[in-house]
Amino acid sequence: MNEQLTKEIQKRRTFAIISHPDAGKTTLTEKLLLFGGAIHVAGAVKSNKIKKTATSDWMEIEKQRGISVATSVMGFEYDGYKINILDTPGHQDFAEDTFRTLTAVDSVIIVVDVAKGVETQTRRLMEVCRMRNTPVIIFVNKLDREGRDPFDILDELETELKIKVVPLTWPINIGAKFKGVYNIYEHGLDLFTPSKQTISERIEIDDINSPEIDKLVGPQDAAKLREDIELINGVYPEFDEKEYLEGNVAPVFFGSALNTFGVKELLDCFVKIAPSPRAVVAEERTINPEEDGFSGFVFKIHANMDPNHRSCIAFVKVCSGKFERNVGYRHVRSDKVMKFAAPTAFMAQKKSVVEEAYPGDIVGIPDTGNFKIGDTLTSGEMIHFKGLPSFSPEMFKYIENADPMKAKQLDKGIKQLMDEGVAQLFTSSFNGRKIIGTVGQLQFEVIQYRLLHEYGAQCRWEPLSLYKACWIESDDEEALEAFKKRKHQFMAKDKDGRDVFMADSNYVLQMARNDFPKIRFHFSSEF
Ligand code: G4P
Repeated sequence: MNEQLTKEIQKRRTFAIISHPDAGKTTLTEKLLLFGGAIHVAGAVKSNKIKKTATSDWMEIEKQRGISVATSVMGFEYDGYKINILDTPGHQDFAEDTFRTLTAVDSVIIVVDVAKGVETQTRRLMEVCRMRNTPVIIFVNKLDREGRDPFDILDELETELKIKVVPLTWPINIGAKFKGVYNIYEHGLDLFTPSKQTISERIEIDDINSPEIDKLVGPQDAAKLREDIELINGVYPEFDEKEYLEGNVAPVFFGSALNTFGVKELLDCFVKIAPSPRAVVAEERTINPEEDGFSGFVFKIHANMDPNHRSCIAFVKVCSGKFERNVGYRHVRSDKVMKFAAPTAFMAQKKSVVEEAYPGDIVGIPDTGNFKIGDTLTSGEMIHFKGLPSFSPEMFKYIENADPMKAKQLDKGIKQLMDEGVAQLFTSSFNGRKIIGTVGQLQFEVIQYRLLHEYGAQCRWEPLSLYKACWIESDDEEALEAFKKRKHQFMAKDKDGRDVFMADSNYVLQMARNDFPKIRFHFSSEF
């Protein structure tokens, strides 16, 4: 056992903050960075954020995404821990990026707006967490504004996110009357004073019946708090760390990110209970982070939009062993040994060349098209990490060549853009036509632009009305063949050659489910 490696692993916390746009993800990220000393003024992260006004202008978004490479991973030290926050794009047209990022984190913090409760994107992202039993902590934000009753919010979190919740702090009023939170977990009272930079002071309270509380918040609010806490103790189980780590229970915190209120409580609890990098199940075997041999996988590729030369950064999550600069590692898919002269680490929003990295760390590797999402690098062993999931796109179009002289360039461009994970390619088994599936309209524009400017190829889109791409499976080989035969007009292959049923409406999918009970239909490639 390598003691130094174990120590490095145990101090790492790699996570993502996810939310529906506007719930306060950027603000919370920024406040966490302030605590870590990674930034010194509020607003530093914000300036890199994709501006809401520019949502229909994808060039502007891409430009800002370019800037945001530096904030893709934000590393900082806090209380002896090394924290890596993986940023996820706020714009929902890039949701696929977020899904992939979630495969590289060990836990997640979900931000929910107290007035809005659980919103669509939060629900979808939680589904991805659930697939992998990722531990989640929930931060209910904007308590300084009028919002819903906290008990209502807890109910909604449980039903909508399908996870048991346990409040670890509890608000005293809300909106204009918001007075602070009672810390159920550590028995303390944090009084609210609106401030965007300073940290609230903690008042230790041993007992909820302490008259101190009456003095601080007034007898009426103190009585209400006691009533609430009694109800909580009756309804919610005591917080069990093991249940949290298994992804069965989510602890809930209340606060106001903008006012830096409740954020320190969240961070202090987070570093204590959130998991350090855990074992990863590869196709061949389970990889333990403490193994000496290095292994890691590419979960994201960020292309720079320079039309003159194609260059990317491949983001590698270290899963085991120690990664070192200029050491040869095996690129499993191509079976080549590669050395990296300028791998970068991300600390305090700055990129810098790094000599070594440990499990939980993210290394950025400059790339000119060698990497594909899901690729594995190792010290030598043939390890394949289980594929990153693809999710059914929301929009589909046929892609056609608009310049017959440039067919090769078009094919190459499509292939590389798909490897980068810009969108998904399906090939119709019926007529061989290529179908591009995306989460939003913006990707079609991005693809068309990049094909032209980076590959000199021109494409044309043809409308295609589809509801979902469904990955299919069955224990009965004959039933599967019969289904494919009957639906051959609607069958396609995904990028890995797997069979996908392209359902053109929910109704058609329901009918297929009824007619072919032995077939299982999935909206995700991982099941
Ligand atoms: P996002 O990344 O999840 O999209 O959310 P972001 O942090 O950008 O927050 C969205 C809006 O909510 C911002 O206001 C932000 O200032 C505000 N906000 C975040 N936390 C709190 C909070 O605790 N209380 C209150 N009252 N507001 C909060 P904006 O007007 O859209 O942006 P800005 O002009 O303030 O920068």
